[in-house]
Amino acid sequence: MNKKVRKAVIPAAGLGTRFLPATKALAKEMLPIVDKPTIQFIVEEALQSGIEEILVVTGKAKRSIEDHFDSNFELEYNLKEKGKSELLKLVDETTGIRLHFIRQSHPRGLGDAVLQAKAFIGNEPFVVMLGDDLMEDKVPLTRQLMDDYDKTHASTIAVMQVPHDEVSAYGVIAPQGKGTNGLYSVETFVEKPAPEDAPSDLAIIGRYLLTPEIFNILENQAPGAGNEIQLTDAIDTLNKTQRVFAREFKGKRYDVGDKYGYMKTSIEYALRHPQVKDDLKQYIIDLGKKLEKADRPAPAKKLK
Ligand code: UTP
Repeated sequence: MNKKVRKAVIPAAGLGTRFLPATKALAKEMLPIVDKPTIQFIVEEALQSGIEEILVVTGKAKRSIEDHFDSNFELEYNLKEKGKSELLKLVDETTGIRLHFIRQSHPRGLGDAVLQAKAFIGNEPFVVMLGDDLMEDKVPLTRQLMDDYDKTHASTIAVMQVPHDEVSAYGVIAPQGKGTNGLYSVETFVEKPAPEDAPSDLAIIGRYLLTPEIFNILENQAPGAGNEIQLTDAIDTLNKTQRVFAREFKGKRYDVGDKYGYMKTSIEYALRHPQVKDDLKQYIIDLGKKLEKADRPAPAKKLK
């Protein structure tokens, strides 16, 4: 297998239970960071990496995602009429990439979501990009994986050091040796290990470059952790018949998959947003002072 990586899959069909009730009728990938849905950041990373076509795997909230990336004639006409060219530009930011949609009828797990892309991908290597993680680095992480593929022609999974007590929230790798320039051969991939069983603190984060052989494995994959079809389990099987590498990511990762991570990311991104950064910074400083005052023990009352 020695083909160019051109296609990406964005699974967005999960139930998003950690954000209920917001995700009752809205995909969590549509929740905005300040004013941009998380999925748009992912599409932009794909564009910057040189991906040409994207398949979004949607569930119940298909419509809002499709509408977001479609042109909106009424809105565009209205903004043009009012001379709001800056806003018009924002509405149009992700043109230049072809998006396709497919539905995962039941959220059986990430592995099953990726399997829905089998016909779209055909016999090519491809990337899977999760909306839970926003990645920042000089070279986009997806591009780093594509550069690795150009050299190895093998599947490569992005991993990152995480605190040891958090490993059970991730898939974790057992690396073979110390790796070369951040690229590891892998002995096994384990989904959600207990910290005492984890083979390392190198956790799988939301970017995967996979060869199409993964589909045959996924078709026969039994449910794993959480009774879901786990992509990690299929990757572990793939690694037994062809080399699968792990690329350690050294950039900045924003985990937006749970409420606390989402709030922190929103604040950090807002502190860079030209329209709100100054006011927000002052607000946080004032709030910090207020909280500090409230935390201080009240002065003892003087005895008469
Ligand atoms: P998560 O487990 O983080 O997402 O899956 P979730 O299940 O939607 O969220 P919680 O845990 O209930 O809050 C990782 C990614 O895989 C997609 C999700 O949309 C998310 O981008 N996914 C997961 C699917 O597309 N289908 C599935 O069956 C499961």
